[in-house]
Amino acid sequence: MSTRTLIRGGLVITAAEELHADVLIEDGRIAALAARGTRAAEAWSADRVIDASDKYVIPGGVDAHTHMELPFGGTFASDSFETGTRAAAWGGTTTIVDFAVQTVGRSLREGLDAWYAKADGKCAVDYAFHMILSDVNERTLKEMDLLVEEGITSFKLFMAYPGVFYSDDGQILRAMQRSAANGGLIMMHAENGIAIDVLVEQALQRGETDPRYHGEVRKVLLEAEATHRAIQLARVAGAPLYVVHVSAEEAVAELAAARDKGLDVFGETCPQYLFLSTDNLAEPDFEGAKYVCSTPLRPREHQAALWRGLRTNDLQVVSTDHCPFCFTGQKELGRGDFSKIPNGLPGVENRMDLLHQAVLDGHITRRRWIEIACATPARMFGLYPKKGTIAPGADADVVVYDPAATQVISAETHHMNVDYSAYEGKQVTGRVETVLSRGELVIDQREFTGRAGHGRYTPRATCQYLG
Ligand code: URP
Ligand code: ZN
Ligand code: ZN
Ligand code: ZN
Repeated sequence: MSTRTLIRGGLVITAAEELHADVLIEDGRIAALAARGTRAAEAWSADRVIDASDKYVIPGGVDAHTHMELPFGGTFASDSFETGTRAAAWGGTTTIVDFAVQTVGRSLREGLDAWYAKADGKCAVDYAFHMILSDVNERTLKEMDLLVEEGITSFKLFMAYPGVFYSDDGQILRAMQRSAANGGLIMMHAENGIAIDVLVEQALQRGETDPRYHGEVRKVLLEAEATHRAIQLARVAGAPLYVVHVSAEEAVAELAAARDKGLDVFGETCPQYLFLSTDNLAEPDFEGAKYVCSTPLRPREHQAALWRGLRTNDLQVVSTDHCPFCFTGQKELGRGDFSKIPNGLPGVENRMDLLHQAVLDGHITRRRWIEIACATPARMFGLYPKKGTIAPGADADVVVYDPAATQVISAETHHMNVDYSAYEGKQVTGRVETVLSRGELVIDQREFTGRAGHGRYTPRATCQYLG
């Protein structure tokens, strides 16, 4: 059955423009836009009319970095695909790109099939996968080609976490060479994990066991060094590079220098690095554990460089690295030893709002908000223009956003399956009102009307952001 939905009276914002226009949706796609008051717009009829007067009409968010149910440090990230994508919808995000994980000694195929199975029938919004390479060898290099053909067109490698996800420089170079040939995009966790592990051991020997030492041993210099090394390896391989969760000013400088040379080197940062700092890691009574993630939170001074990078396009994307662990029973695994605190922060529900607050705070423009949160992540990971914009033919993933409503972020009211909020008590202006996913209402005036299984797996093209 075909339904026509009309979103009337809003300000449509895309990465490219802002216009007062009505949006016509048919069969799950954007059918047409017409400037408000024009004869075309007046003539439209629809089964459902959504009044967006005084509201923004924006593309659904694309969060290119989530970890639902990730196994880590002997436990699992607390959001399932069901709870995590429902929370995403509440926060105005209509596509997630999650990470399937290869286990050491196993094939990529096995890892990917396990993630297909975890997500199948569970998601409230659309989803896709990157692949984490934990074991680069002749066999897995060949498998990369097959995955690219199948729509898994990006691969995360780790210079951190020796003995778990870590790849050495030779493995990294080989994977980059392969991606240069098959069109895949290498995503890098850039921290010198071998050196960090030495510093962790020495800190623990000195009795430095509190969460704040997590931030001290994972040094800025070791993020910058790994970022530099990853860039040089990518140059040698002739491959593009996307550095995930950039947190330090010195790492931004490495990306900027590479981009000034004309290299296809890209950077992502996350809300936690833009809004939180080592002050949070130092909170007493083990509360700092709530803020343990890697790369770690940095001293507040680094935030200016991240905002600047987002303005100068030395950083292109803000994703969440959503990887929640409850304080009770999960973060607590690291009482008395910060290295046993599972790494990761919740945030999939908060990203669009925090970045809208950044617009109000003067850090970015409205169009840049949509660019870094919707359009560029879609382009970077081969989902554009199906996702990330409002244009005829695009999937009708649309958010009606109230730019004037205020809210206080809190675990009491959020929908993520985690017992704390990293932004507890923070007041922000702006709130998601209504969300459509492929034309179906999943949030209707602040009520969840979606369902597990509406979200579809979305195979991806290769990177559309090169050159
Ligand atoms: O602390 C983090 N970021 N946990 C998730 C895994 C990763 O490295 O992205
Ligand atoms: Zn990482
Ligand atoms: Zn520059
Ligand atoms: Zn991550």
